[in-house]
Amino acid sequence: MTPISIPEPVIEAVRNAQHIVVLTGAGISAESGIPTFREAQTGLWAQYRPEELATPEAFQRHPERVWKWYEWRRSLVRQAAPNPGHLALVQMERLAPRFTLITQNVDGLHQAAGNRHVLELHGNIMRSRCWREGRIVAPAPDDTHIPPRCPHCGAFLRPDVVWFGETLPPDVLAAAEQATNEADVFFSVGTSTVVYPAAALPFEARSHGAFVIEVNPATTPLTPHASAVLRGPAGQVLPALVQAVWNEARA
Ligand code: OAD
Repeated sequence: MTPISIPEPVIEAVRNAQHIVVLTGAGISAESGIPTFREAQTGLWAQYRPEELATPEAFQRHPERVWKWYEWRRSLVRQAAPNPGHLALVQMERLAPRFTLITQNVDGLHQAAGNRHVLELHGNIMRSRCWREGRIVAPAPDDTHIPPRCPHCGAFLRPDVVWFGETLPPDVLAAAEQATNEADVFFSVGTSTVVYPAAALPFEARSHGAFVIEVNPATTPLTPHASAVLRGPAGQVLPALVQAVWNEARA
């Protein structure tokens, strides 16, 4: 494995930053064994595209199929553990003067790693809510329906995630936008930067004068606009960066 080298301007910018904001996407959890969205699905679900399953219309038409897909994704999350990329962000939260973590992921791995403040733009797959009334509820342990039913009104339960065509939780989005506008260093980690409004955040940060650093093994629409690009898997790049900036040993 070639050691990751962090360019000096990146080290300087991060070391001098007063407020570091990090936006993460599915790529940061890839090394924990959770497939990203835009890589081919495998096994049982290979015949569907996520866009055919993660919509209110899909749930209305095929509630059982959509619930089962989420059950499969939940089972992957239950087996997964945070990787060195997640752990480096815990160190960053501890070492930066101010730090805001914004994620598009629904897997809860940032919290499992130990980050204390996480803005979840797309919800959390482990929670369920009533399809009709929207309140967060846990399915009754003896409920064998697929999907399980709301214990209060009997409607279907759905995962508490944002589907295509739905709006993001407004308070979470507002907090993410405010942090973005105040950031002096903004990281975009493991996201294809194609799903809005999350994809707008690095561009907003740039237009407010932040030093924007992309961490991704592949090119994205952000790449030509980033102040710096660190090519490689987050699980290698982020620990190398923490080490280079703060001289911290790997977690
Ligand atoms: P994508 O699947 O679109 O993109 C994953 C990105 O991670 C790609 O750019 C990969 O190159 C990169 N990647 C892969 N392995 C990596 C690694 N080890 N380290 C760093 N990067 C790596 O996932 P998102 O951008 O998160 O929304 O997708 C955004 C949203 O689209 C998701 O939150 C979800 C989906 O539809 C909703 O469900 C609303």
